[in-house]
Amino acid sequence: MVQQLCLWKWFTVGMALAAVLAQALAQNDEDCKLARTGPPATIVPIDEESRNGTILVDNMLIKGTAGGPDPTIELSLKDNVDYWVILDPIKQTLYLNSTGRVLDRDPPMSIQSIVVQVQCVNKKVGTIINHEVRIVVRDRNDNSPQFQQQHYHVAVNELTPVGTTIFTGFSGNNGAIDIDDGPNGQIEYVIQYNPNDKTSNRTFDIPLTLSGAVVLRERLNYEEKTRYFVIVQANDRAQNLNERRTSTTTLTVDVLDGDDLGPMFLPCVLVNNTRDCRPLTYQASLPELTDPQEETKVKCRSSITTVYIEVLPPNNQSPPRFPQLMYSLEVSEAMRIGAVLLNLQAFDREGDPIQYLIQNGDPQQVFNLSQSSGLLALGKPLDRESTDRYILIVTASDGRPDGLFWMCSLMFERLLLEEGQDPPKDPGWDYAKPF
Ligand SMILES: *[C@@H]1O[C@H](CO)[C@@H](O)[C@H](O)[C@H]1NC(C)=O
Ligand SMILES: *[C@@H]1O[C@H](CO)[C@@H](O)[C@H](O)[C@H]1NC(C)=O
Ligand SMILES: *[C@@H]1O[C@H](CO)[C@@H](O)[C@H](O)[C@H]1NC(C)=O
Ligand SMILES: *[C@@H]1O[C@H](CO)[C@@H](O)[C@H](O)[C@H]1NC(C)=O
Ligand SMILES: *[C@@H]1O[C@H](CO)[C@@H](O)[C@H](O)[C@H]1NC(C)=O
Repeated sequence: MVQQLCLWKWFTVGMALAAVLAQALAQNDEDCKLARTGPPATIVPIDEESRNGTILVDNMLIKGTAGGPDPTIELSLKDNVDYWVILDPIKQTLYLNSTGRVLDRDPPMSIQSIVVQVQCVNKKVGTIINHEVRIVVRDRNDNSPQFQQQHYHVAVNELTPVGTTIFTGFSGNNGAIDIDDGPNGQIEYVIQYNPNDKTSNRTFDIPLTLSGAVVLRERLNYEEKTRYFVIVQANDRAQNLNERRTSTTTLTVDVLDGDDLGPMFLPCVLVNNTRDCRPLTYQASLPELTDPQEETKVKCRSSITTVYIEVLPPNNQSPPRFPQLMYSLEVSEAMRIGAVLLNLQAFDREGDPIQYLIQNGDPQQVFNLSQSSGLLALGKPLDRESTDRYILIVTASDGRPDGLFWMCSLMFERLLLEEGQDPPKDPGWDYAKPF
């Protein structure tokens, strides 16, 4: 009985010992594994330019003990390119090592991520597990836009119509560049008020801020102003408006004298940056005769009046000039009295005020030419029955004693169109003669 008891005692002791041993072995087997669920790699973000010593990973959560009198695991860093990461193996903490340098996400360094392995050696079993740590470097808006040139320059003819794009020199990589990423690196262009050139911000505009194309917003006049200093600001598009960074440049716009151009139509749409204008057709409407009899006669028909202007060569060296060669305009019955038919804009090299006059061809004063502005308006309804063509001689004079002027012959040809009939394409020019 005593023997039996003794045997039983030894058996239980043995069982307990075996259990403890098994447990210890099992624990050793677990060492170096992650004490967390989720993906095997540890992924953490960090802002670029973070200070040295910034904690990257607070605790790797690797099973086992690396320090103390009886360590079960041994931790070290592998693939630690350029030593960006420091490991405290006891605390299982990773720090940023930016001693003497800056972690820069932007060119030329362009460090967008750091990948290291935390190697764990199981001291009891001898196995090795590598734990990957991915450090994602986040962009900060730490760079301002930089203009590629200190100054920009463009020359613009004074006759350039309002609305024309006069400068595209910020396109491509020729404008401002911001090496930050995403919106922090996207550029917008805005014209700023220039206290030393107060009209520059209203004369020019950048309607499409991302393209930076500069558009003419007000007419230029070489005689009044020959140069503009346009301050252009580039800003990035950081989400937080307060964090946006800017820089400015000066766009110098030189106004060229329109006199060195040949005759042209207004508005002049330049052909591919040449000095030639695209052919233009002017269109306007003229009312039909007010005579009630006439009105009934012409009803559901339409009346077409064609206007031609020919500009004659100068009779002297420096007269005012009409830029146009000729006009053609078709009119219908809808036009009101007082409506403007043409803008007979002449240019004077000396900047003298110009006087416009209908010299000949309109004895009934059907047309009303503004002496100072050159606007030709309808003064009376047209009477198709009495006159179906007008040849007006218009002069632009600079009012000097020597009486320099350009002459302009202008012809109105009125045609009654039947339904579906097209106006003539080529009226011929043999009637446009100098006087
Ligand atoms: C950088 O940070 C590490 C980790 O905290 C630290 O050991 C080291 O002394 C720091 N270097 C400097 C120059 O402060
Ligand atoms: C920290 O980085 C510097 C510069 O690369 C390097 O010289 C130094 O050895 C690194 N320090 C540690 C603790 O890795
Ligand atoms: C030009 O700048 C002035 C001063 O900031 C401002 O008052 C004015 O509205 C600006 N003009 C245009 C057209 O933006
Ligand atoms: C203008 O440029 C366009 C596109 O570059 C071209 O197709 C066209 O022939 C050019 N016109 C003239 C008159 O040079
Ligand atoms: C001609 O135009 C001017 C300015 O628009 C106007 O004051 C005048 O009344 C017009 N004359 C006639 C006859 O229509």
